[in-house]
Amino acid sequence: MTRRKKKQNVMEEQMYEESMKIAKDAFRRFPLKNVRGVPLMEAIVQNWESVCTFCPDPSDLLMAAYPKAGITWTQEIVDLLLHNGDAMACRRAPTILRHPFLEIFSPPPIPSGLDLLNKMDPPRVIKTHLPIQLVPEGFWKNKCKVIYVARNAKDNLVSYYHFDRMNLTHPDPGPWDGYIHKFMKGELAWGSWYDHVKGYWEERQKINILYLFYEDMKENPRREVERIMKYLDLSCSDDVIKRVVELTSFKVMKDNPMANYTFITKPIFDHSISPFMRKGWCFFQYFILISCVVVMVLLLDKNILLKNYCKAMFQYPTYISYSDEYFLGCIVCLMLSWKKQLLSTRAWE
Ligand code: PPS
Repeated sequence: MTRRKKKQNVMEEQMYEESMKIAKDAFRRFPLKNVRGVPLMEAIVQNWESVCTFCPDPSDLLMAAYPKAGITWTQEIVDLLLHNGDAMACRRAPTILRHPFLEIFSPPPIPSGLDLLNKMDPPRVIKTHLPIQLVPEGFWKNKCKVIYVARNAKDNLVSYYHFDRMNLTHPDPGPWDGYIHKFMKGELAWGSWYDHVKGYWEERQKINILYLFYEDMKENPRREVERIMKYLDLSCSDDVIKRVVELTSFKVMKDNPMANYTFITKPIFDHSISPFMRKGWCFFQYFILISCVVVMVLLLDKNILLKNYCKAMFQYPTYISYSDEYFLGCIVCLMLSWKKQLLSTRAWE
């Protein structure tokens, strides 16, 4: 990166920070309004005309996901691949400035996603949470590449709940029970999770969308990084791919101020309520881990080996206690979860 470009990036970051300070009193938990039946933040709806008439360049890349499905992670992978694994180049600016958020509008003088886009030269990487039917037509007319990320509903919901607690510009999430219902009825910002993941899924072949799953990225990050690389017509060396995987691990990204959203502070994000990079786990991984720990504890507690345990169980079936049932349950669940269906997000297929 040239010195001029570096200086420009620093200036842009400072200007953005300054604009957040100036606008600080204008922030509140904004209500949602509908666009073609999809609830969106009020400011997006007020500026909807300029969003839906945005015309991208054919070289632009659209990155789409339902909120909290793992788009920041995927953006970091894409940025590193586009910069041949150069970590410093990818720390040139916070994610929001590197890859503008197409539809976002904040109180002035904070630049909107469109303001940032208009200042950048193509090819640009553009983030969106819009469901497929609301994506500006220009993306399809210009045959832009699109990467979509889906995450299983349970983890997506939990992540969204904590995000709505800490994002002080989103409607108050209220109690957990009510929140689940709002999620299921598609009343949260950007609408129904189900319609979102299904909408892109159904169009993925017709418009050549690279459809990724958060769980697949967790299971085998290298494989998914390679899929993204191929989709972008890039060819990186083995070392570079390894580096990309390392630099985009949850642990590394959590400590990367250019990727962990600590750049956005109060009164927008309150990281003391919940950090942006919260857990980065899947429910089933938790379940498997907990089950393994319980099995180990039970085995140690009883001071028996699995072989003896099974023998004893068949010889004296009446001795099966509650903890034994849990033990067996854990084994069955572990076996089942190896069958990929349990880890899968593809509930809509
Ligand atoms: S947003 O606000 O919609 O842009 O959020 P998004 O980036 O889509 O999703 C945030 C969740 O993704 C997790 N995350 C990661 N998981 C695993 N590995 C890496 N590298 C990673 N980076 C981000 C992040 O922690 C959020 O999930 P939860 O479950 O809340 O931790």
